[in-house]
Amino acid sequence: MTAELSPIDKAKYVAARRAVEFVEDGMRLGLGTGSTAAWMVRCLGELVREEGMMITGVATSTRTADLAREVGVTIKTLDEVRWLDLTIDGTDEYDPNLNLIKGGGGALLHEKVVATASDQMIVIADPTKQVDTLGAFPLPVEIIPFGWQTTKALIEEMLSNLDVLGRSASLRLSGTEPFRSDEGNYILDLHLRRIAQPAQLSLVLNQIPGVVENGLFLDICDVLVIGNADGTVEVR
Ligand code: 5RP
Repeated sequence: MTAELSPIDKAKYVAARRAVEFVEDGMRLGLGTGSTAAWMVRCLGELVREEGMMITGVATSTRTADLAREVGVTIKTLDEVRWLDLTIDGTDEYDPNLNLIKGGGGALLHEKVVATASDQMIVIADPTKQVDTLGAFPLPVEIIPFGWQTTKALIEEMLSNLDVLGRSASLRLSGTEPFRSDEGNYILDLHLRRIAQPAQLSLVLNQIPGVVENGLFLDICDVLVIGNADGTVEVR
């Protein structure tokens, strides 16, 4: 599975492989989205096929659900399972307090719902995702398509009163069309550069009509597993 991996893929793979050591037979798992999470799903497939483990997964995207089925992991809906033992997901940024920016892959809404419905969340990452203060990565915000330009203007106006360095928002595109989340929503990427008060920003954003959810994952991550290109892993 790992022949001739690039250094970054090696780092992602070793983080994923270490994280699945937390998985026990019979667990109900939340499955994240993205290239790092995809390694985790492949590692779970090995546990199912080679060790006969019984794992039920709730996927955070159609991409993850497709991959999980392909490698032999049973997929159910969150409504069928209701509560999860553990979620393993990637991230776009993490800070020293294990706060995150997620949603680079456009799955932040399902990812937040699933992580919130889990006893524990493990985040898998490589050192390129580490920051002192969140915000270098544009903050994804999921909004409904209706009146999206008004919602964008309201967000930009709100940002002028907050302690952030950048204040512009851009509509995420897929080719020339707006990107659509699995819920059919749009995503705005907020170019903030430095988020001094993430909790305040998250609260204010989610109060704006038209905003569905934002990509700040605060006080949700329990364990961070960082993989390095040399094959070593750090668990925080
Ligand atoms: C998807 C996410 C991903 O976890 C995040 O974008 C990291 O992806 P990758 O592992 O490909 O770097 O939040 O919505």
